[in-house]
Amino acid sequence: MTSGPGAARFGVPLVRLAVAESTNDVARLLASAGTREGAVVLAGRQTRGRGRLGRVWLSPEGGLWCSIVLRPVGQGPPGLLSLAAGLAAAEAIETVSDVHAGLKWPNDVVLDGRKVGGVLIESAAGATIAGFGINVRVPLEGLARDVAETATSLHLMTGRPVDPEAVLEALLKRFAGWYDTWLAGGAGIVGAWSRRDATRGRPLHISISGETLEGTADGIEPDGALRLKDASGRVRRVVSGDLVSSQGMAQGR
Ligand code: BTN
Repeated sequence: MTSGPGAARFGVPLVRLAVAESTNDVARLLASAGTREGAVVLAGRQTRGRGRLGRVWLSPEGGLWCSIVLRPVGQGPPGLLSLAAGLAAAEAIETVSDVHAGLKWPNDVVLDGRKVGGVLIESAAGATIAGFGINVRVPLEGLARDVAETATSLHLMTGRPVDPEAVLEALLKRFAGWYDTWLAGGAGIVGAWSRRDATRGRPLHISISGETLEGTADGIEPDGALRLKDASGRVRRVVSGDLVSSQGMAQGR
């Protein structure tokens, strides 16, 4: 990696592993051993990658699978960190390619309606771990069938080889910027996220603890909650849940 402001701040130390069960778990171990903020764990593949809401995250060779250790001093708005992470991932993708990256609440990165990446934020060992998964050149045949139907890769969308290292470098820089914005109160995160909102105005099904809510996506609130408008025009705030659009864009994989 070349040096740069973000790369210096996030990515020291940079622990590279050929294989990890989950980079979030390795980052948690580093955090409990006292590693500094900005430590990054990068794996060539994961054998037990996980996504939001306990989903399995298939992570063969060819993806960017990494986790960053954060030790926020003070606290930005809780609901906005995950949006900031999604923004960083979308911007990183655009830095290395000419595609437009959209976002699906809370932090799925989508290209042309198909999921190319996601973010898993966890608290562990007194730190916050931000795990990023981006399909750089994972062959879709290597994913489960239901996943492959709703997923894509950067390679597929651009038709050109993209280097996961280049995506990592861009991601660390972009995330350093958005993380600072979040620490400073988060102004601008909701606006930037909304400009990439790939679901606004679309019908959604949201499953929360076994209950399914239906409505139309109506953007996000200042605190990052999703606005779901029902048929009568009533807006519900959704702060967590599994979001599936009526067009079958699955949240997880
Ligand atoms: C999601 O969309 O559900 C979030 C997926 C996050 C996957 C990444 S890959 C690196 C890190 N390690 C994990 O086990 N998960 C995250």
